[in-house]
Amino acid sequence: MTQNDFPILITGGAGYIGSVLVGQLLQDNYRVRVIDNLMHRQDSLKLFGDNKNLEIVDGDIRNETLVKQTLKGISAVVHLAAIVGDPACEKNKQLATAVNKDASRMLSALAKEQKIKRFLFASTCSNYGKMEAKDGYVDENSELKPVSHYARLKVDFEEFLFSQKSASFCPVILRFATAFGMSPRPRLDLTVNEFTAVLAMGEKLEIYGADFWRPYCHTQDIARACQLLLEADLSIVAAQAFNVGDTSQNFQKKTLIELILKEIPEAKDLIIFVTKEEDPRDYRVNFDKIRKTLGYLKTKTVSNGICEYIEAIKCGAITDIHAQRYRN
Ligand SMILES: NC(=O)c1ccc[n+]([C@@H]2O[C@H](COP(=O)([O-])OP(=O)(O)OC[C@H]3O[C@@H](n4cnc5c(N)ncnc54)[C@H](O)[C@@H]3O)[C@@H](O)[C@H]2O)c1
Repeated sequence: MTQNDFPILITGGAGYIGSVLVGQLLQDNYRVRVIDNLMHRQDSLKLFGDNKNLEIVDGDIRNETLVKQTLKGISAVVHLAAIVGDPACEKNKQLATAVNKDASRMLSALAKEQKIKRFLFASTCSNYGKMEAKDGYVDENSELKPVSHYARLKVDFEEFLFSQKSASFCPVILRFATAFGMSPRPRLDLTVNEFTAVLAMGEKLEIYGADFWRPYCHTQDIARACQLLLEADLSIVAAQAFNVGDTSQNFQKKTLIELILKEIPEAKDLIIFVTKEEDPRDYRVNFDKIRKTLGYLKTKTVSNGICEYIEAIKCGAITDIHAQRYRN
């Protein structure tokens, strides 16, 4: 158990991953400050009610004055706030650039100015884009080949952070695998959750890119990785990138479907494989670095996440799977 005198700032702390991280840190007696503009009208932090260790700033990271104030007395930053995902960033490129690039640079510059040493940035394995070798793996040393505005903005900010490294400012880049699993703000626009929810509801599911590889990681395990990086010796992790996930949890979409059908065999006839050129991302990721450097191990598999969403639908915790609040 860790008791911190100074709060940790989590930008985007009301989001899918953020609200899981907030819960985990509060449980371990951290003081937490969240800044989030609640753009999905989410009430995910209500769960933590009047926890005296949680402060919530309902505001926008593009607001420089507010960000300056919010950074006061902070011991470390976990920067999650963003326009998240390829579709959301394509839909509003200007907003995505303003938040994911400009506001992120401003936030990190202000953190540096205020001598906040530890700055964790939520980047993505999407940065690897499309793999060259069909049978290979990419790792932290592989070339980044972003194929979307979303990933290009992530790569841009990674590069900016690396350039800002100094003795008193130690950025750490976390390239998350695609998340799955429950959260106080469930998302049904992410592959594992979406496929499971659609099939559990008995609806038809169209799948394209059935052979494409992608790594997956449970929200709780992503949050654990963030906590591990908050607690790690800075001399080991400063100005480094870590893929966050587990090498065993890389799957092709067609394998995900097999895993879901193990739980819902009656959904077999609901699946339609189609050909579309829409999303060329295809990458299998090696996660040895975080395991070897920090002893990080996953606690949940994709199958665990599939069961969580089936259960949420069965017990009525999720009813309208097409509701906008579950999507970015
Ligand atoms: N979910 C994944 O599979 C995944 C994978 C790789 C990386 N990531 C990264 O992890 C982070 C969290 O993702 P998530 O899945 O929790 O997404 P999310 O959309 O649920 O969370 C993002 C949060 O940021 C907030 N936000 C957006 N713009 C803001 C602004 N201008 N000011 C203040 N708050 C703002 C939103 O209200 C939301 O709560 C993001 O940076 C994302 O790029 C996510």
